[in-house]
Amino acid sequence: GKVADYIPEIATVDPDQFGIALVDLKGNVFGVGDHQKPFSIQSISKVHTLTMVFKAFNSKLWTRVNVEPSGDPFNSIAQLEYEKGIPRNPFINSGALVITDALCSNFDDPLVQLTDFINELAGQTCVKINQEVMRSEKNHGERNTAMAYFLKSYKNFNNPIEEVLDVYFSQCAIEMSCVDLARSFSFLANDGYSIFANREILTESNARRVNALMLTCGFYDEAGEFAFRVGMPGKSGVGGGVAAVMPHKFSIAVWSPELNEKGNSVKAIRALELLTDKLKFSLF
Ligand code: DON
Repeated sequence: GKVADYIPEIATVDPDQFGIALVDLKGNVFGVGDHQKPFSIQSISKVHTLTMVFKAFNSKLWTRVNVEPSGDPFNSIAQLEYEKGIPRNPFINSGALVITDALCSNFDDPLVQLTDFINELAGQTCVKINQEVMRSEKNHGERNTAMAYFLKSYKNFNNPIEEVLDVYFSQCAIEMSCVDLARSFSFLANDGYSIFANREILTESNARRVNALMLTCGFYDEAGEFAFRVGMPGKSGVGGGVAAVMPHKFSIAVWSPELNEKGNSVKAIRALELLTDKLKFSLF
């Protein structure tokens, strides 16, 4: 695989790193390699932002973004025109921008509230926004900027474009370790209840819906391959991370920077495939 090079600050990461951490529903952590080293979570943050707006927006949200796999790359704009500015799902970049726009409408200080929320989900203060990565992506963010203007032209963008983009580039520049990322996904393995935040984050049915979206859309135009090879709801990021959940058993995060041509970590997917084969279970 190849380290993502369209965000210069990420292109410099050492490719020969690998970490994996599994967190069971008692909070026990099993990890190996670089599992405690923070990395850029990138699109994995889209699960956290979706969770934050889910409750606030519920039915209204699904008039602004659909729940269908796109079958296209994560940064494709093509379908947006055919589908009149309604993104296929909340995980492709256009859909994630609508979610971050909704976050900005619903929260007074979205970035502070997002980092506080993720820290709460992880049960400890662990979230750091790498400002160099944020600025690096912002300085090369023409495609996402074009997408935001396109959404606005269809009246599917309610806040100032620069403001939402700054929040979006910042959320993508969040750095967490495999351990903390797996802890922050634990509620999705536990019917929406977080053993670290000690509270219900999503209702059981909404937690199932987020897991369904991860299974069908979490790896973009490789979602089918991930379901076929691994069989767990998961979300990838171009920093080389993958977070996944085995409902009622555990949450897990894997990190290896080298990506395949679809923008997903080669070794992270392979590691999860070996794990589900060894443990002899998956969703199916
Ligand atoms: O917006 C972007 O292109 C990046 N900040 C995030 C893309 C990403 O992580 C896609 N997932 N594999």
